[in-house]
Amino acid sequence: MVSTKIIIAASLLSVFIATGCAVASSYSEEELGLRKTELYSEKTTTGEMTSYSKVAAGESKVFARAFENAPPMIPHDVEGMLDLTKDNNSCLGCHVPGVAETIKATPTPKSHLYDMRTGKTLAEVSSARYNCTACHAPQSNNEPLVNNEFKPEYRKADGAQKTNLLDTLNEGVK
Ligand code: HEC
Ligand code: HEC
Repeated sequence: MVSTKIIIAASLLSVFIATGCAVASSYSEEELGLRKTELYSEKTTTGEMTSYSKVAAGESKVFARAFENAPPMIPHDVEGMLDLTKDNNSCLGCHVPGVAETIKATPTPKSHLYDMRTGKTLAEVSSARYNCTACHAPQSNNEPLVNNEFKPEYRKADGAQKTNLLDTLNEGVK
């Protein structure tokens, strides 16, 4: 027969474990969200200041591509280059193939001189691509609130610096 002492000791132990767990998993309201501030007022809640590259085009260091054939992010200052319109595109002034190579800017890839609807190669960058910053974004130097543990795997040795989407677009499609 189990003695009364053992039963009391066991129930005391379970109370300790239960309260211990409760303490360990309790969070204050401020800790619940990513912003770590009061939830009922915006008064003290301000976002971290953005800090975009001030390094001029031609002097910046390119970022590794986030994954194979990801659109490269913009490493240089874009002050004075935006907004973009179909007819007025400062980015193409430097990134259009022919000019880009001479100033050591990455030329737009084959996929940008291609009409996805008709499957035809174009003489100039497709107007469907005029809004470069819809896909290529400048990067603000802030600490991420949640660390990203994604590790890209590039199938080609230079996959972190170069793209070949048009060659691989239909891979696996029959
Ligand atoms: C004055 C010329 C110039 C202009 C204008 C310019 N760029 Fe650049 N860009 C460069 C150069 C040169 C590089 C290579 C890095 C460097 O040397 O700063 C570069 C790098 C890049 C990269 C990274 C390429 C890679 O291989 O990783 C992207 C993306 C980019 N620019 C997009 C843009 C967009 C979008 C615009 C318009 C908002 C723009 N650039 C305007 C010259 C320019
Ligand atoms: C709809 C999204 C989109 C738009 C708009 C777009 N791009 Fe891209 N860009 C991409 C993607 C995705 C890649 C990488 C895959 C590929 O196409 O080869 C890329 C690749 C690039 C590269 C790298 C080329 C290389 O050889 O690695 C440059 C430079 C570039 N784009 C410049 C531009 C410029 C300049 C514009 C505006 C005229 C522009 N892009 C508009 C999605 C876009």
